[in-house]
Amino acid sequence: MPQSTSSLNEVFARRAIANSNYPSELVTGLNQKTIETFARSGCKRFAEFGVNLGATTLEIAKHLKGDGEIYLFDYQYNVDYVGELLQSNGFSNFYRFGSSSKLLDSYNWPLSQLLEKQSGPRFDYCFLDGAHIWNIDALTFFLVDRLLAVGGYVDFDDYNWSLAISPTLAPHLFPKTSEFYTDEQIKDRQVKRVVDLLVKTCPRYVEIVENKIYQKIANEGESSSFAKLRSIWRRLVS
Ligand SMILES: C[S@@+](CC[C@H](N)C(=O)[O-])C[C@H]1O[C@@H](n2cnc3c(N)ncnc32)[C@H](O)[C@@H]1O
Repeated sequence: MPQSTSSLNEVFARRAIANSNYPSELVTGLNQKTIETFARSGCKRFAEFGVNLGATTLEIAKHLKGDGEIYLFDYQYNVDYVGELLQSNGFSNFYRFGSSSKLLDSYNWPLSQLLEKQSGPRFDYCFLDGAHIWNIDALTFFLVDRLLAVGGYVDFDDYNWSLAISPTLAPHLFPKTSEFYTDEQIKDRQVKRVVDLLVKTCPRYVEIVENKIYQKIANEGESSSFAKLRSIWRRLVS
């Protein structure tokens, strides 16, 4: 992680050259609730969709202490950056899944390649903190569901976020937002749309942290009432 403003400015400059379709000057802090929930869960395989500068990833790696697996999904330049950050902190238990900066590309492509290789469980905890856009993250949820172990978690950041209020993507700060999205989509809370329409309505997911973290209790096709009983029983005996 760059220590000085000047090295951070160099990172921003490199990102601006690599990708004109996404703001380069994006700094994000670690997500404390995600780190706490992951630590309590005992999960070992963490996938993060949108790693930015690795603030949350590094804390997860410190918690895992070299054990388990960390899957990094973001634009290639960001997964490379976070890979170096993890390496320089002594961690090597990670896999990089970088996407190109093409306008319609995203982590859904490497996810499809993972599915091609293996449709069974690969992740225990998925942190969706990437595009925050329906046309990307609605599909991400379905793909992640195929790769998430029963008992695992899907965690959404920024339930109330919208493009209109984003400190980097609001149209007056990043004019391409008005080119890419309608006014309705700019005002809409698109993470909320994914969570409310796809996750909350799915009987195979149970809410653990309101509007944020959901536990998968059954695979597609498995009886969710049986799975619900099993999940209640597990909680009672643990
Ligand atoms: C909010 S930041 C992630 C913050 C990070 N999880 C943390 O805790 O510090 C969103 C990230 O999603 C990535 N992202 C947005 N759209 C993307 C896309 N279409 N494909 C790949 N990554 C994308 C951005 O590059 C950015 O790094």
